[in-house]
Amino acid sequence: MALLTLSAIFLLDLLTTGQLVNHTIDDTLGDDHTGFQVDYSPLIWKNSSQCSDSAIVPDRSMAMNDTWTGATYYPALRNMTAKLVFHGSAIYVYLIVSNYPESSDTICDFRMDGDMVGSYRHDADGTYEFQYGVLAYSNASLSSDDHTLLIETTGTQSSYVIFDYAIYMYVVGSSIFLVIDILTFAETPEHPSRLRI
Ligand SMILES: *[C@@H]1O[C@H](CO)[C@@H](O)[C@H](O)[C@H]1NC(C)=O
Ligand SMILES: *[C@@H]1O[C@H](CO)[C@@H](O)[C@H](O)[C@H]1NC(C)=O
Ligand SMILES: *[C@@H]1O[C@H](CO)[C@@H](O)[C@H](O)[C@H]1NC(C)=O
Ligand SMILES: *[C@@H]1O[C@H](CO)[C@@H](O)[C@H](O)[C@H]1NC(C)=O
Ligand SMILES: *[C@@H]1O[C@H](CO)[C@@H](O)[C@H](O)[C@H]1NC(C)=O
Repeated sequence: MALLTLSAIFLLDLLTTGQLVNHTIDDTLGDDHTGFQVDYSPLIWKNSSQCSDSAIVPDRSMAMNDTWTGATYYPALRNMTAKLVFHGSAIYVYLIVSNYPESSDTICDFRMDGDMVGSYRHDADGTYEFQYGVLAYSNASLSSDDHTLLIETTGTQSSYVIFDYAIYMYVVGSSIFLVIDILTFAETPEHPSRLRI
């Protein structure tokens, strides 16, 4: 007597483990994931520990990682930039802005991978206070790839730019697992012993 038992188990697991993760690029400490540092140009930018406390500068204890980096642009400079490089699909840039009437307004543009994608302006309101964690630019529709973002000031107006930090978001482990297990028991007259236990 022939008996055929065919047992097949297909285990199909489609797992999309894509998880969004945020990392911080600090003005002074750089990227907490890759270690990349922000590239400032020209060499007039100053970090929080290079400025005398008598100048009109933000309180470092109010800034991300207790640091900030700032510069005053004047037209003769023609072009002043802070360059951020990151791999991700979204970016959020936070500045500190001055409301001291004697300091310049904050004016800057954002150039992504060579193209102008945004601009920011804050006019000092005369309240003699800094505003911290001001979201000056965000873009959540980037290709999940390497990007270069410039915080750029050009033109004929003076500007006081203080960069505090940026957050970028990327997807980790966006893979699909396909597991197929096939278990087959075949019983034929030629191999009867398989069933007799
Ligand atoms: C990443 O940070 C941005 C800006 O703060 C926030 O909107 C977003 O929800 C955060 N995403 C994750 C996965 O934490
Ligand atoms: C800066 O502070 C943020 C928030 O606490 C933290 O996630 C990040 O790792 C810090 N950066 C460095 C370089 O320590
Ligand atoms: C500020 O910049 C100076 C000169 O580049 C550097 O030596 C110093 O370590 C920086 N401060 C911090 C807190 O990184
Ligand atoms: C400013 O300098 C950056 C970096 O060199 C450059 O990519 C950008 O095109 C310059 N902007 C202008 C308006 O020249
Ligand atoms: C985001 O970046 C992309 C690619 O550079 C650009 O096409 C788009 O206009 C940007 N969006 C915003 C809101 O800046």
